[in-house]
Amino acid sequence: MNKLSEKYGNIFSLRRGLTNIVYVSGYKAVKEALVSDSFARCVTPLFDDIYKGRGLSFTNGYSWRKHQQFSVSFFKNFGESRETLQHKIQQECYFLCEAFEQEQGCSFDPLIKINNAVANVIGSLVFGQRYEYNDLQFQKLLRMSAESVHLTGSVWNELYDAYPSIMKIVPGPHHTIIANYRRLAAFLAEKIEKHKQDQDPNEPKDYIHSYLAEIENRKNDKEVQFNTENLEWCIVDLFEGGTETTTNTLRWALLYVIKYPLIQEKVQEEIECVIGKTRFPTMADKANMPYTNAVLHEVQRKGDIVPLNMARVATKDAALGGYSVPKGTVMITNISSVLNDEKEWETPDTFNPEHFLDSEGQFRRRDAFIPFSAGKRMCPGEYLARVELFLLFTCLLQKFTFSPPPGEEPSLEFQLGFTKVPMPYKLCASLR
Ligand code: HEM
Repeated sequence: MNKLSEKYGNIFSLRRGLTNIVYVSGYKAVKEALVSDSFARCVTPLFDDIYKGRGLSFTNGYSWRKHQQFSVSFFKNFGESRETLQHKIQQECYFLCEAFEQEQGCSFDPLIKINNAVANVIGSLVFGQRYEYNDLQFQKLLRMSAESVHLTGSVWNELYDAYPSIMKIVPGPHHTIIANYRRLAAFLAEKIEKHKQDQDPNEPKDYIHSYLAEIENRKNDKEVQFNTENLEWCIVDLFEGGTETTTNTLRWALLYVIKYPLIQEKVQEEIECVIGKTRFPTMADKANMPYTNAVLHEVQRKGDIVPLNMARVATKDAALGGYSVPKGTVMITNISSVLNDEKEWETPDTFNPEHFLDSEGQFRRRDAFIPFSAGKRMCPGEYLARVELFLLFTCLLQKFTFSPPPGEEPSLEFQLGFTKVPMPYKLCASLR
C-alpha cells in the first residue's frame, strides 16, 4: 500500500472481486476520512457470517451507538470509581512480576505470561475471573484467539470477502477463523449463564452483570437490542480486541527497552525518583513521569500495532480529498502511514521518545498519534489500554532490568497479520 501510494498519491482505489476499495494514506487524508460522517463500519462477508449482526465491532446504527456508549462508560466508571479498575490491574501486575521472577534471570519468551496477564485484566472486568498462568485450557483459548487475529490479515480472508459463496465450500484456514470465534463465543456464553444465576442488579460486579441489568432497564426500547445474544458477541469483541493489541504493545515495549538500554535506564531513573523502589505505581504518577509516558507513546507509534485499521464503507456518495467516493465503496485507512508520516514526525524511522517531549522535557501530545484510530468508530478500549500499558510497564521496570540473552542482538523483525506483532523473542529479567 505504501508503494502504491508513492506512485498514485495518498488516495487511490483498487477492485477486489466485485468490491471497489479506496485506500487512504498520510495524516491529512486519513484524519479527514476517519472523522467524516459518510462512512460506517464495513461488515465484510466473513465477519457477517460469524457475527450475524451482533456485538460491537461489526454493527452500525442506533443499537451500535448505544452499545458503544455503554461499553466506553463501563470502562471509565467501573465500580464506584476508577480506583477499582486500577486495583484490578495492580493485582495482575503483582502476579506478572512474580511469574517473571520465577525465571531467576534466565532467558525466556515473555509472550505467554504477558498474554495471560492482559487477558486476565479483561477477564476480571468482563466476567470477574482470572486464570493461573499455567492453566492449559485458558492458554489454548488465547492461542486460538491470536491465531484468528493473525489469519484475519491473511489472503484467505481477502479471498472469502471477494468470493464468499465459493470460499464457503473451499477448505482452508478461513474455516479456522470461523471455528475459533465460535469456540471463544461458547466459552463466554457459559460465563453469561453462570452470571444469570447470581445476578444482583443493585451491585453489578463486572461487564456481564452491568449488561444484564441494562437489558432490564432498556426493555421498552425495542430498537436498542440489549439482549443475551448481543452480550455474548460484545464480550467476544472486548476479549478479542483487548487481548492481542495490548499484549503485543507490551511485547514491543520490552523489545525496545532491551534494544535501547539507555532508554531503559532513563525510565528506571524516573520511576525511582517519582515512585521509589517499593510503592506500587498508580495512574496519579503518570502526570509526573513525562519520559516514561513519552517512551510508551513512542512504543505505540513504532509498534504500529493495527497498521491498516478496521475497514469502513461509504454509506452515501462522499467526497474525500477532492475525489468523489461512491456509496458502497470500502475504505481502508493506512494508520501506519500516519504514525510514520515524514511531514509529522522529526525522525519517523527512528525509535525516538523525544517525539513526545517539549524543549523542557515535558510531555507533548501529537495530532498524528492515532494508534487507536479517530472519529466515532475509534477504539472504545483506549482508556483501559492506556491504564494497563502504564501500570504494567512501570511495575515491570521498577522491579526488573531487562536485557537480551547473552551474546544475542535483539531483532525488531515482525509478523504481519491483522496486527503487526514482534517475532518470538527471548529476554532476561534480572531483579533490581
Ligand atoms: C494498545 C491497545 C489497543 C489498540 C492499539 C487498539 C486499536 C484499535 C483500533 C485501531 C480499532 C479500530 C478503530 C476504527 O475502526 O476506527 C479498534 C477497535 C476496537 N477495539 Fe481497540 N485497541 C486497543 C485496545 C483495546 C482494548 C483494551 C479493548 C477492550 C476493552 C478494545 C476493544 C476494541 C473494540 C470492541 C473495537 C471495535 C469498535 C467498533 O467497531 O466500534 N481495544 N481498536
